[in-house]
Amino acid sequence: MSTDQALKVIRDQIENPTAQIGFILGSGLGHLADLVDGSTIDYRDLPGFPHAGVSGHNPKLVIGKLEGAEVAILGGREHYYENGRADAMRVPLEVLFELGVSTLFATNACGSFRSDIPPGNLMLIRDHINYSGMSPLIGEPTDRRFVNLTNAYDPEIRGQLLAIAKTADIPLIEGVYSWYSGPNFETPAEIKMLKSFGADAVGMSTVPEVILGRFLGMKCAAVSVVTNMAAGLSDEHISHEHTKSSAPVGAAKLEVIIRAFLGELSR
Ligand code: HPA
Repeated sequence: MSTDQALKVIRDQIENPTAQIGFILGSGLGHLADLVDGSTIDYRDLPGFPHAGVSGHNPKLVIGKLEGAEVAILGGREHYYENGRADAMRVPLEVLFELGVSTLFATNACGSFRSDIPPGNLMLIRDHINYSGMSPLIGEPTDRRFVNLTNAYDPEIRGQLLAIAKTADIPLIEGVYSWYSGPNFETPAEIKMLKSFGADAVGMSTVPEVILGRFLGMKCAAVSVVTNMAAGLSDEHISHEHTKSSAPVGAAKLEVIIRAFLGELSR
């Protein structure tokens, strides 16, 4: 219902809105939305979109062109920890799907477990561990809810992104992202456990959106910007302020990769 209403608002404001790729931008990574040549609609004007954003996000939908590709950018996300809703991004993602988006590209800030992926660097998500145990598909009545998450992070796109990063001389290492509900940060003991489970990084987002993206039949890709070593792995003080102030270093590298990827997509 809200999806149709939001689409109506968009179609009333933008003539023939379409997009081939959709982005969800993480904490401190909202800058990408400002680079698009297109139209902007505030989340507040879109039924079913999150209304109270976490600070460091850019709560607007931007539809337009970047590097020749047709993009739709969700400048901010609602996290599970805000209202306890794992499906908070369902309407925005359904809207993207209806606009023609076939690839979902999520970005986020994360805490790294790996000394070879230090703060300021990027991790390409190869797979995830849903440590929160929540699913955005709880309550979904159809059999479509039994979503297959093998290769949830599209192998072909991952290969493309790795090749682009190599050419641009930007370190990009694949790893497993674990989703911790937040909003508190993890304890050092929890990080030790997540690491022993096979995770390489931890964050508070992305997993529910990728589940929804796969549910809708989109190809998914996600890149994490490392803003800190996870709890107990360094002496640095972990805070949201630190996440926001550290994100731009990795965000600049991510922008180079995304621009090149979009350039290839538009060819
Ligand atoms: N933990 C969870 N989420 C995060 C972190 C972290 O250490 N850093 C940035 N987002």
